Amino acid sequence: MRPPSYKAIVDELATAIRSGTVPAGTRLPTHRDLARERRIALATATRVYAELAAMGLVVGEPGRGTFVRVRSGYDGPEPSRALPVPRVADLSFNQPLAQGQADLLRLALRSLATSGEIESLLRQDPPGGRRHDRAVVATYLLGRGIDTAPANVLLASGAQQALDTVLRALTRPGDVLAVDALTYPGITVLASAHGLDLAPVPVTATGPDLDALDQLCRTRPVRAIYAIPTVHNPLGWVLDREQRARIVAAARACDCVIVEDGTYAFLEAAPPPPLQALAPERTCYVAGLSKNVATGLRFGFAVVPDRHVRAVTRSLRVAAWGAPGLVTALATAWIADGTVARLEKVRRGDAAARQDIARSALAGMDVTAHPESYVVWLGLEPHQRPDHVAAVLAEEGILVSTADAFATGSYRPRALRLALGTPPLGELGPALHRLRDAIEAIPP
Ligand SMILES: Cc1ncc(COP(=O)(O)O)c(C=O)c1O
Repeated sequence: MRPPSYKAIVDELATAIRSGTVPAGTRLPTHRDLARERRIALATATRVYAELAAMGLVVGEPGRGTFVRVRSGYDGPEPSRALPVPRVADLSFNQPLAQGQADLLRLALRSLATSGEIESLLRQDPPGGRRHDRAVVATYLLGRGIDTAPANVLLASGAQQALDTVLRALTRPGDVLAVDALTYPGITVLASAHGLDLAPVPVTATGPDLDALDQLCRTRPVRAIYAIPTVHNPLGWVLDREQRARIVAAARACDCVIVEDGTYAFLEAAPPPPLQALAPERTCYVAGLSKNVATGLRFGFAVVPDRHVRAVTRSLRVAAWGAPGLVTALATAWIADGTVARLEKVRRGDAAARQDIARSALAGMDVTAHPESYVVWLGLEPHQRPDHVAAVLAEEGILVSTADAFATGSYRPRALRLALGTPPLGELGPALHRLRDAIEAIPP
């Protein structure tokens, strides 16, 4: 019997990986073992793995072997996300990773392991973190235009925990939370958990309708405004100084708290000052390292005004006490040695390249996006129902989110949100072309 061609082996392995038969994280046979098992030359086995690596399906780790890459933001699809066919692209969740980040992690762990003072990682940090670590984050935040004392920085297990902690401390069930009519879905989950009354503010492509926000603050007892002024998720806007000043004025007029989400703010190289700098007395600024470093790190923080520090710290004790010491040690080392700043620069370039690909693949379609972000808001034709389109795309192996997930009220436009950050760069263009073809083939 003739040995199979290298292409047949690549196809077979690619299908097994895409369908999940060979799960993410699996260590594959060594090149030598693969050559023996398949009766091919060693050079051919190497070529097989090189091709799978180029397809973004496996990753070679020097000295350890070849592993199946983790491709989804969620380790295995939730039941509603199960795909009827092998997965082609996950455009539903952003988890960008730069080349070589696994090596960075390995180096950082090695350096931690050999550092003199490791025993402290076995001791409980105070809620909100140790002073030194909070000072590292405070210094990092200077680069975002936030000048704060370490005592006002509270460390958490990701931005979502920071948001949860702030809302738990500063709101009561029944309070009104002003939000954009389309916004990050995590806030809706939190509002429901805390019994808050969401008050949606209409949106345009360039920002929230600020007359409507003024009106809302005049007519209802708004307790907090949740805002994403810099690289909005999902609409990509960056608010200008005047828009920012108006949000602050609205918050001051009704004496409410501003919860500013800066999770994606690093993607804008030179944004106007954050709301926190304009209204430090009432703004809780929340962000983390999920999108600029790694989603799996689970490191975030909140900058909190003096008068709320005690309440937010107490609220951190409800769950997790903040960020684990080991994660904090990694995160602060990367902040202090400039790795985070370097990765942020790489991400801006990567995001811009992905937006270029999207602009070309989706030319002529109704696209709203920041030119250096990982998100595209794709308007659909009147006859295209988002849930139906998402189901059609799932048949193609493409996962997307519908506008419903981002809606905080009754405004549910016919649109999809595409997350561009997860697929390997080389797979993004083909996936978007396939998406376009599938959408355009839907009969009126
Ligand atoms: C706008 C926004 N805020 C917060 C988060 C949560 O971030 P983390 O992973 O740090 O909890 C996300 C995650 O997608 C996000 O898009």
